Amino acid sequence: MKELKKTTWRSPSNIALVKYWGKKSGVQIPANPSISFTLENCYSETTVSLLEKEKKGKDIELRFYFDGKANMAFQLKMLKFFESIRKDFPLLNEYGLLIHSTNSFPHSSGIASSASAMSALAISLCDLQQQLGNKKLSDEKFLHRASHFARLGSGSAARSVYPLISQWGKTSTVRGSSDEFAIPFEKNLHKIFQTYQNTILIASSAEKKVSSRVGHSLMKTNPFAKTRYAQAEKNLKEIIGALKTGDLEKFGAITEEEAMTLHALMMCSTPSFVLMSPSTLAMIDRIRNYREETKLPVYFTLDAGPNIHLLYPKDVSKQVSGFVAAELTELCENGRMILDKVGKGPKKIK
Ligand code: PMV
Repeated sequence: MKELKKTTWRSPSNIALVKYWGKKSGVQIPANPSISFTLENCYSETTVSLLEKEKKGKDIELRFYFDGKANMAFQLKMLKFFESIRKDFPLLNEYGLLIHSTNSFPHSSGIASSASAMSALAISLCDLQQQLGNKKLSDEKFLHRASHFARLGSGSAARSVYPLISQWGKTSTVRGSSDEFAIPFEKNLHKIFQTYQNTILIASSAEKKVSSRVGHSLMKTNPFAKTRYAQAEKNLKEIIGALKTGDLEKFGAITEEEAMTLHALMMCSTPSFVLMSPSTLAMIDRIRNYREETKLPVYFTLDAGPNIHLLYPKDVSKQVSGFVAAELTELCENGRMILDKVGKGPKKIK
């Protein structure tokens, strides 16, 4: 089939500092506001090509390849997503789509890839639809739109479209905040956080025990939900202060509280899930002891899985890599880790 247009975007994953966990009624409306660092080295690269349609008719024509191989499971997921947004993207009706996607990080590393994958896809679609139309949006509006559609694919993906740091979810703390899309936050970031480091320690690369869709829905019956949502509001307000002033101690205390709360919520849900592994707990112990002994600002956060995200300023990288080699590598699955840092956001690949 003749290729009529194509675009390629690289979009990163992100790591939440204040976590999104639980939805309000509506489509992907978060129960509380969240904020995240955009990553640099963990990204998806997605090429969307528009082809002449094979058949006239209403069906969306899609072929999806992951790492060069046809992937039916992803293709079906994507078709469902496209069905839900087709009224906003006439190109989905007018062309056949060929999509190739890859991840920079191993697929089976236990690192959530939906944020990078869905943001790369949403930006590519917005880009192509804009090229086909005659209205060019401002960069700000373009990214709001990309964030909006990334959110419909995967909530946390809304936050992957901006450099350095991004906030999502309506809150009186942040002017211009929205449940519909994330907003950039880099203007409010102290210099020390602009080069912040994130070493991802792979405790286990096994498939997640529970999908985030199920995880979010368990919050509906969680007895601590109301308290949690109030805590998230308070933590957001406080961490924003720490991010502005460069208060590493306050920043670290909140990120660790958020990580532990996320896991505690899963443990006390019905049914209950334990998403940490014994190595996760051993690593947490060693990180806290190391911090106590050295007074270095090395803190951790967790996603909804067993892997540790170690967060620290660039100027202590040397000491931290010594500590990681001496005490943490042995607790990682086959010694695996990914060195990452706060990143520059999505990029169009020429
Ligand atoms: O975007 P989802 O639906 O996969 O949810 C992500 C939830 C967490 O990663 C655990 C927290 C967050 O805010 O990213």
